[in-house]
Amino acid sequence: MAHILITSGPTRQYLDPVRYLTNASSGRMGTALATAALENGHEVTIVSGPVEVDYPDAAKIIRVMTTLEMMDAAAMVFQKADGLIGAAAPCDYMPRKVEASKLSKTGQPLQLELIETPDIVATLGASKRSDQWVVGFALETDDVRFRSIVKMSKKCCDMIVSNRADAMNSENNSVEILFTDGQLLEQIDGPKLEVARGILSWIAKRLIKESP
Ligand code: C5P
Repeated sequence: MAHILITSGPTRQYLDPVRYLTNASSGRMGTALATAALENGHEVTIVSGPVEVDYPDAAKIIRVMTTLEMMDAAAMVFQKADGLIGAAAPCDYMPRKVEASKLSKTGQPLQLELIETPDIVATLGASKRSDQWVVGFALETDDVRFRSIVKMSKKCCDMIVSNRADAMNSENNSVEILFTDGQLLEQIDGPKLEVARGILSWIAKRLIKESP
């Protein structure tokens, strides 16, 4: 059995004490993946941004707010994990400066300066040991399979799950599971738990090395 790290949900980047940037992610795919992994007898740690969903009691949950916090927590857990499933939708940008007080309206346009946040899957993918594996998600609107394969390679993933924007905040998902060599392993349409069970089954077949 494996120790699986799952990143889940959105992150938040505050501009001031009350306003923030975020992503439309519910954490439902992360919950479904955790449930499927636990059903298969794996140990599960979830690093999650702010979500309303309930994660399974048997999973260890680490709550974070920002992408940098998610990066730090995930990097720490990954050292002792066998694999990572990156199901979170972390903010790709954060304000260069976070105001200590609420920004007041001035009647003028507001110019925000945003800087890139680290990519968690790419960072952990690039640093993974030979006995570790990384599964990413790719949300695309055009050239879905091609772009997902490019993303898998750029982020050093062993497998990637491609889905479309309508998966966000939905009960269902329609995915293609692609292997590191570009092979389409399976196309699944259905409730997120059914999709998650399919993903876990391919992870077991292709990525989890049974101890001797
Ligand atoms: O590049 P894009 O955001 O489409 O890639 C999606 C994949 O990358 C997902 O697995 C997501 O969890 C991961 N990701 C990440 N850190 C970011 C942005 C995306 O781990 N800052």
